[in-house]
Amino acid sequence: MRKSVQKIFSEVAESYQLVNHVLTFGLDILWRKKAAREAVKASGSFWLDVCSGTGEMALNLSRLAEKGNKIVTVDFCQPMLAKTSEKKKAANISSILAEARHLPFPDETLDLITISFATRNINPSRERLKTHLKEFYRVLKPGGRFVNLETSQPFSKIIQRLFHIYVKVAVKPIGFLISGSKAGYSYLAFTIPRFLPPEEFSSVLHKAGFARVTHRSLFLGVSAIHTAIK
Ligand SMILES: C[S@@+](CC[C@H](N)C(=O)[O-])C[C@H]1O[C@@H](n2cnc3c(N)ncnc32)[C@H](O)[C@@H]1O
Repeated sequence: MRKSVQKIFSEVAESYQLVNHVLTFGLDILWRKKAAREAVKASGSFWLDVCSGTGEMALNLSRLAEKGNKIVTVDFCQPMLAKTSEKKKAANISSILAEARHLPFPDETLDLITISFATRNINPSRERLKTHLKEFYRVLKPGGRFVNLETSQPFSKIIQRLFHIYVKVAVKPIGFLISGSKAGYSYLAFTIPRFLPPEEFSSVLHKAGFARVTHRSLFLGVSAIHTAIK
């Protein structure tokens, strides 16, 4: 599973951002900005964006960061990290090739962890999701902040149904047309309808040890930002 997910993201790295913008009508840009504004309420200066892809969230964080803050991105897909390096205008971003489940940091070292549109990928089962969240918890300092931006399940059943129909009919063909990757966008279309409703994700965060878990739904609930504190 891990290897196939790595292969999928290597395949789509080149066109990844463009497909996101097209499929969300540009809303993903606004949602990352909102999540970044939520994230920078963290105190402290050592920040991690995990499953960082092409580095969009890290760039948003770096625009809002105070001088001297250190931002690290972690991803297990080299072509995605290469995209971050290409546009790494902000000198305070560094990147590490690593697996989200085994972060290369000692206990209690980070002030903030963000993850955007990747929690679906570390959710092959509830147990595995919890294992990843516990790893994030391990490396956060007490009082550290965790901000999660992810697709979600709209509360209204009609909107949820329409959203899932959109994912089914549009994601695969449009993703394939732009990226040339069938596997990549079949995977995306598979994971979106299966991801947890916001309350259930909050409950997993609690089980992983986090406190003060809150969420904010975006665009009728098709996405959500969760915030939690260690
Ligand atoms: C859908 S992309 C999201 C990228 C970025 N966060 C964004 O907002 O666009 C998912 C990213 O997570 C990475 N990823 C998935 N599973 C991972 C894991 N177990 N460890 C590290 N990176 C992982 C993939 O390589 C990919 O770059």
